[in-house]
Amino acid sequence: MTEHQTIVVETSGRVGIITLNRPKALNALNTELMNEVVGAVREFDVDQGIGAIVITGSEKAFAAGADIKEMSSKSYADVVNEQFFGAWDELSRARTPIIAAVTGYALGGGCELAMLCDTIIAGDNAVFGQPEINLGVIPGIGGSQRLTRAVGKAKAMDMVLTGRQMKVDEAERLGLVSRVVPKEDCRAAAIEVAEVIASKSLIASAAAKDAVNRAFESSLVEGVRAERALFYSTFATDDQTEGMAAFVEKRDPNFTHR
Ligand code: CAA
Repeated sequence: MTEHQTIVVETSGRVGIITLNRPKALNALNTELMNEVVGAVREFDVDQGIGAIVITGSEKAFAAGADIKEMSSKSYADVVNEQFFGAWDELSRARTPIIAAVTGYALGGGCELAMLCDTIIAGDNAVFGQPEINLGVIPGIGGSQRLTRAVGKAKAMDMVLTGRQMKVDEAERLGLVSRVVPKEDCRAAAIEVAEVIASKSLIASAAAKDAVNRAFESSLVEGVRAERALFYSTFATDDQTEGMAAFVEKRDPNFTHR
């Protein structure tokens, strides 16, 4: 396994776990951390032994945003020429389902990283926000788009224009997070959900994830058409044969991810 400086990478059965590990900077997302997270996801994504990934932080902070100290001296030419933040886009192309386990601050890039994941499980101390406006900039890792799709225009405008922080009860009410659990249980709860996902057919979960994502990326007609094609494609898999046979024979399925 690759050596890491800013994250801890572990596995638990068929679940890959990435823990952001820059505690002194509240897990601020610098370039090194971005490259390590993206690299770890890439490695898990091609590993047939991994069926779901959890990205988590510390109890105080999932991540307090992009690293302001790293960013502060950059010019327009620097960010354009470096395609600053561009590597994060790779996470949205992973086929393996990714769960964000969020406790504490998920601000700016931290909120955007959580939203880049497929679903968010939150601790009861989680706080979400896009405070970039306070720094004279705007979200840059998809926050203006994913937050708007997640919570609607009025709330997204409120968050992005004022920079206010949203507590977890409001985030759950709006559908930004899927489940809220006591903060000390958040990591374990996310791993438990990941284990459930990882117990399914990998091919089916990748197709399911792809289908749901079409709802964000295309029109209803195109999304339904894509879903139908993906549904049909599952009938080319051994796992469809096995899953349906297991139901008929009243036993648990033994998926082989083929
Ligand atoms: N970048 C770099 N360092 C950060 C950081 C960040 N985003 N957030 C916190 N830190 C550092 C602090 O500088 C501090 O370091 P020092 O001890 O060396 O001074 C350490 O983490 C602890 O932070 P605080 O002392 O501020 O802790 P706190 O409990 O008083 O406050 C907080 C916590 C409210 C989250 C506060 O740290 C804060 O407001 N952080 C910045 C949040 C922010 O603006 N995020 C958006 C960044 S821009 C962005 O993300 C752009 C994008 O779209 C991708």
